[in-house]
Amino acid sequence: MSSYYVTTPIYYVNDLPHIGHIYTTVMADVIARYHRMAGERVYFLTGTDEHGQKIERAAAAAGIEPIALADRVVSRYHELWAALGISHDDFIRTTEERHARGVVAIVERINENGDFYVDRHEGWYCTSCETFYTEKELEGDDRRCPDHGTPTEWKSEENVFFRLSKYAEPLLEWYRENPRAVQPETRLNEVRSFVESGLRDLSVSRAGLEWGIPFPDRPGQTIYVWLDALTNYISALGFGRDGEQELYDTFWAGDGTRVHLVGKDILRFHAVYWPAFLMSAGLPLPTTVWAHGWWLRDERKMSKSAGNVVRPDHLMERFGVDSLRLFLVREMNFGHDATFSDEAFIDRYNSDLANDLGNTVSRLVTLSRKNFDNVVPPRPSEPGPLAEAAETVVAEYRQAMEGFAFHRALDALWRLLSEANSYLVGHEPWKMLKDESLRQEAGGVLWNGLEVVRIVATGLLPVMPETAPAVLRAIGALGEGEAEGSLEVLAWGRLESGATLPELSPLFPRIDKQAYLDELPTEGAPAAEAEKSTTEEKSMISIEQFFETQLRTATVKAAEAIPKSNKLLKLTVDLGDETRTVVAGIAKQYEPEALVGRQVVIVANLEPAKLMGVESQGMVLAADMDGAPILLRPDTEVPNGTRVR
Ligand code: MSP
Repeated sequence: MSSYYVTTPIYYVNDLPHIGHIYTTVMADVIARYHRMAGERVYFLTGTDEHGQKIERAAAAAGIEPIALADRVVSRYHELWAALGISHDDFIRTTEERHARGVVAIVERINENGDFYVDRHEGWYCTSCETFYTEKELEGDDRRCPDHGTPTEWKSEENVFFRLSKYAEPLLEWYRENPRAVQPETRLNEVRSFVESGLRDLSVSRAGLEWGIPFPDRPGQTIYVWLDALTNYISALGFGRDGEQELYDTFWAGDGTRVHLVGKDILRFHAVYWPAFLMSAGLPLPTTVWAHGWWLRDERKMSKSAGNVVRPDHLMERFGVDSLRLFLVREMNFGHDATFSDEAFIDRYNSDLANDLGNTVSRLVTLSRKNFDNVVPPRPSEPGPLAEAAETVVAEYRQAMEGFAFHRALDALWRLLSEANSYLVGHEPWKMLKDESLRQEAGGVLWNGLEVVRIVATGLLPVMPETAPAVLRAIGALGEGEAEGSLEVLAWGRLESGATLPELSPLFPRIDKQAYLDELPTEGAPAAEAEKSTTEEKSMISIEQFFETQLRTATVKAAEAIPKSNKLLKLTVDLGDETRTVVAGIAKQYEPEALVGRQVVIVANLEPAKLMGVESQGMVLAADMDGAPILLRPDTEVPNGTRVR
């Protein structure tokens, strides 16, 4: 049996998951489920990236130990993956001992190969990507990171270097001989020209960083977080642990497929550094590094630093998990960027699910139940035109699924649904059923329609693991223990006449678009609203948790409208020992001039977020009167910066 190994990147624990993170994991899950249906031996890994300066700082800002921060976020990931039906076989945390053993083992092998040396390292460092940049790669006078747009800082220290330059030629040869090594092709071209332009050696340790794995035999040096993190793909399989390497032997050292799914922002790490480390260590390389595009919102990459993230909770609650999964798979042309919008989401839900799928099932099942004693009608003697259409669609679906063109696979299934609908409209079985002599023929038409639904729902099993089985059950096509499905049953003609059709409960109730859009959080507050829904604990919080939020008094020194926004004002506030810019969604309630001189209460330790291009360094407190904010102020004026609790 061939083996198939699929991984997601491991997620940083300084942030709660948003749609971008969910996307990679859902896609990996779709791939894993599809290959299980194909009868392959699949192993699906995800996990968390918990070391490094970024995490150390985030924990310090929250006033807790890094491991406490990691534990908190990891439990959120576990909950979310369970809710989203993610079928991973393992979840690795880089703070686990099993992982550290794998990392030490790879470092030792690279060392034995003579690929490390010590040198002074100077450069501009971005903590968000934990990367050094050269002067010319940076943006603006304040030397901002090209990826994050945040200022870099100068670092100068002794580090261990990896002889990456030595691997330029072997890497180019790897790309040449394995056209599937980096996909899609545009990404391969990007990576190739990066390597062709010359590779500098890479510093793979950090001095003075506590939160990480100590570099073997190099006191005072910690292993660079990316060397640490990338190794998760093999440490999770047992690499570096004698006697526990069975999974490693099967899924990494065997001749099966090894796929890393990544976002395009971390392609270089996976398509250049990781294979170079592996080459140096004398280990097999991945078969494919697949880089997908970004989810954008307001034309920018969705990210915490941009303050434009969409959290999944609301969508899952309102539309169901599978609707979110379907949207993610269908809306993004895998490999390109896609824009998230609430309108697109609800349109897709209403048209694809409520209408195309839900209505077709309900129409077919209702007619069959009513006219054929609650069972699947008799199968027609001749396979009609839909049989041929299904064969074409199934071939296209399989090819697209195997070629990572998931949106195309779904397009094909929906085309088949639409052909079935035209066929039903063309034959009008509801009219035929009024004439007893056409009853048999009408039954055949219904059977054909139901058979299309069976094939479409089977094809949807990897994408909609909860509702696709529900559809199959609704048409009497799901036997005991068959929820996993198998690709074999995509062949035409398997639906059994006479199978019981249970009473139908609505699968995808239509949702009123306008009412839904009206109920969404107002502009200016979406990040905060969404944040609230993800972090809101069902239980009480401790006083320590409350004190993690620093509330302080401040006086508004200046206020102005933000161009193109009818809700946001930019406030300059005096916090006693510093002045800050804070963006507030209060333009509809307050004139800017009326705010100057007024005391307010602000959240002083909130991570900065960009709103309509303005960085907000805090949040003004207001009572939320159904979306209309009423500002809070101390009863009598107090010195600016006074702690509020
Ligand atoms: N910890 C590293 C990965 C180490 S893998 C050895 C990391 N973590 S991350 O949490 O910042 O991002 C994880 C993944 O989420 C990346 O693949 C990234 O591209 C993806 N996404 C984060 N925001 C995204 C979008 N807005 N859209 C799509 N995916 C994006 O990087």
